[in-house]
Amino acid sequence: MAVTPGRVALAVLPTPLTAAPRLADALGLAGRLLVKRDDLTGFAVAGNKARPLEVLLADAAAAGASVIVTGGATGSNFAAAAVAAAAYAGLPAVVVYAGTEPDRQHPNLAAARHWGARIQFTGDPARDSVDAGIADAAAKLEADGERPFPIPRGGATARSAAGFHWAAGELAGQLGGAGGRGRVTVITATGSGGTLAGLVSGTVALGRPWRLAGVSVSRPPAETRERVLAMAAGCARELGTPAPGPDDVELADGRGPGHGIASAEGRAAAALALETAGLVLDPVYTAKALAALPGILGQTAADPDLTTIFWHTGGLLDAVDEITAKER
Ligand SMILES: Cc1ncc(COP(=O)(O)O)c(C=O)c1O
Repeated sequence: MAVTPGRVALAVLPTPLTAAPRLADALGLAGRLLVKRDDLTGFAVAGNKARPLEVLLADAAAAGASVIVTGGATGSNFAAAAVAAAAYAGLPAVVVYAGTEPDRQHPNLAAARHWGARIQFTGDPARDSVDAGIADAAAKLEADGERPFPIPRGGATARSAAGFHWAAGELAGQLGGAGGRGRVTVITATGSGGTLAGLVSGTVALGRPWRLAGVSVSRPPAETRERVLAMAAGCARELGTPAPGPDDVELADGRGPGHGIASAEGRAAAALALETAGLVLDPVYTAKALAALPGILGQTAADPDLTTIFWHTGGLLDAVDEITAKER
């Protein structure tokens, strides 16, 4: 029988829900725009990743882990955040990155290193080379008598999605009675899919109080949809809540020129967010999600009674990477 996920408190919760009226105007929204500030989760600039890490750390502790093993691209926000979380739990971390040591360190790679990670490279630039790299590293550690706790890229698992299942409840509490499927739309960036999966599972558990849409920035939306639905279903099973169906996963294509490559639309959206709301967006996730927002809303943008919620998932070190790269 599944054991309900535990959590090690990392994030400062609830994260604020703030109004952005000038940004709403700039985006052409007749109704109000609220920003769910998961950029302010308050644990090691982890952004949205603090929530799944609370569950992953609890599971690592329950498994008696002696070392955390994860990986990603060198720009991975999750990998850096996982190293910080492991350090907080008193555990070493091994991080397997795709490719080879880059000439210029991304701030997330620098942070992972600075926070004590043992760094390895797969030698293959394909991001999915990391999956076998994590398994190999874990097997070697085990052979050396360690108790590794492998975590997939992005920290995306059906269990860790519980962090965002609970976040949906947090949002519902902040909205009070203001919900209603035609009255509230929630939009978030989607990469590995764990964030959206948890929100889907939580939204279904709450009786679908809003429309929820993800903006896929790494994989084609159809592929992301399958991943998210499978994880959301697994999350609902873990938590004993109603199963989501295919109609519960809505995804827009936010990839633009490709994963990790800034888009012109994203740059424009990030500039607007800074100028009208003081929000720092990153080029890989949040800027692309905000750029996709008007298209997702379509005609509903003209509805003065619609509340739109932009889930700010963080990505601060990616924003720093863009700023510092520009200045060279
Ligand atoms: C800043 C930021 N936003 C959004 C996401 C997407 O979250 P998920 O991977 O859970 O889909 C990530 C993932 O790394 C991220 O770093």
